[in-house]
Amino acid sequence: MSDRATRPTTSYEARPEDVHRVLLLYSGGLDTSVMLKWIQEKYDAEVVALTVNLGQPGEDYDVVRGKAQQLGALDSVVVDAREEFARDYVVPAIKANAIYGSAYPLFTALGRPLIARLAVEHARATGCDTIAHGCTGKGNDQVRIEATIATLAPELKVIAPVRSWRMGREEEVAYARDHGIPVKGGSEVAPYSIDDNLWGRSSEGRWIEELDHAPDDDVFQLVTRPELAPDEAEVVTVGFEAGVPVSLNGERLGLVELIERAGEIGGRHGVGIVDHIEDRIVGLKVRDIYEVPAATILLTAHQELERLVGTIHQNQFKPTLDRHWAYLVYAGLWLEPVRTDLDAYMDAANSQVTGTIGLRLYKGSARVVTRSSPNAVYDAQLATFSESGGLFSQEASPGFIELWSLQSRMAWRVRHGDSG
Ligand code: ARG
Repeated sequence: MSDRATRPTTSYEARPEDVHRVLLLYSGGLDTSVMLKWIQEKYDAEVVALTVNLGQPGEDYDVVRGKAQQLGALDSVVVDAREEFARDYVVPAIKANAIYGSAYPLFTALGRPLIARLAVEHARATGCDTIAHGCTGKGNDQVRIEATIATLAPELKVIAPVRSWRMGREEEVAYARDHGIPVKGGSEVAPYSIDDNLWGRSSEGRWIEELDHAPDDDVFQLVTRPELAPDEAEVVTVGFEAGVPVSLNGERLGLVELIERAGEIGGRHGVGIVDHIEDRIVGLKVRDIYEVPAATILLTAHQELERLVGTIHQNQFKPTLDRHWAYLVYAGLWLEPVRTDLDAYMDAANSQVTGTIGLRLYKGSARVVTRSSPNAVYDAQLATFSESGGLFSQEASPGFIELWSLQSRMAWRVRHGDSG
C-alpha cells in the first residue's frame, strides 16, 4: 500500500504500528462486536471493552459484558454514568432549553462528550494507547467523540474501523458468522439504526431515508402512538428549583428517576414524537425519528417557568443564547470555552427559575395549564381587567404610547408623507 494510504492525515488517528492495546467503546451491537474481533486480528492488539450506561432502556449489561469477554476482550467494563449524565449534561441542557433545529433535544449529542471522557479515563487507567469507536464517517458522533478525545488526551490515538473498513452489512454479517459473533434478529432485514439514553431515542435508516414515507408503526418503541393513547387526559406537575427539576406530581425525586418517570408518563400519552429533517454538521441533510417524551415534558415546563420569572428583556435575549448553546453541543464542541461561558449566563438566569408547572397530557400533546412561582414577575392585581390602582396608572399609558411610537411615526411620515 502507498504511504499515502496508510499515513493518517490528522494528529490523533493511529498508524497501525501505534496500536497495541485498544479501549473499545462497546455497545454489544453488531458493528462494535465485529470491531472487537477485527481489531484483534487486524492489529494484533489487545482490546479492553468499555460500555457506558446512560439509561438506555432495556439493556442487559451482564449480557453485553459476557459477549465482550466471549469475543476475546482482555477486560470488559460497564460504567453506570446515569447520575453524572443527568446532573452535568441534561441539567445544563434544560437550563438552556436546548433544542437543535427547533425539534431535537440533543440526547445523543449530550451523551457523546461524556462517553468520550470516560473512554479517555479508562484508556489511561488500563494502559491503552488507542481508543476505538463504532461511528461511521457520515455522522455527527465521530466529530463529538474525536473532538473530545483529541482535546482531553493528545497522547491517545483513535481508530474508527467502521469508517475505514468499507464492509457492507452483508459482509459484516458474514464476518460475524465466521467469527462466532451472534447476530441479533437474523440477517434478512437491516434493523433501524438506534441510539438512545435517558433523554431520548432516535431511529435512522430503512424507510426513514424516504422522505415521502410516513412513519411505520414499528419504529415507535418508547412512545405510544397518540391514537392508541388513553382517552382520559392526565395532568402532571413538575417542580423546579433554580432551573433544576426536583419533583413530579409533588413527589421529590432524584434526577435519574424523575427523568425516567417523566418519560414513562409522557410515553403513555403519546407525547414526544418528532419526525425531523436535520442539518448534520458534516454537511448532510438527513431524516431522524425521535421519541423524546421526558425532554418534551421537562423542557416545555422549564421554558414556561422561565418565561414567568424572567423580564421581557431576559425573555427576548435568552433564546438567542439558548440556540447558540444547542448548536455548539450539536456540533461536538462541548469543551469549547464559549459553551461554559454561556453556562454562566444560564446559571444566573436560572437562579430565579423556581416553581411548579402543570401540563395536560393528551394523545400526543403536552399543554401547559398551570403555573406558580414565588419569583413570578406577575401581579394579578396589576394584570386584571377590573380597575387597579397603585403601580399601574392607566392615565400614564397615552404618554407612553406617544413616546414609544415616536420614531416609528416619524419614519412613516418620511416614507409616506403626511397623507400616508
Ligand atoms: N441525529 C442525531 C444526532 O446527530 C442522532 C444521532 C444518532 N446516532 C446514531 N449513531 N444512531 O445527534
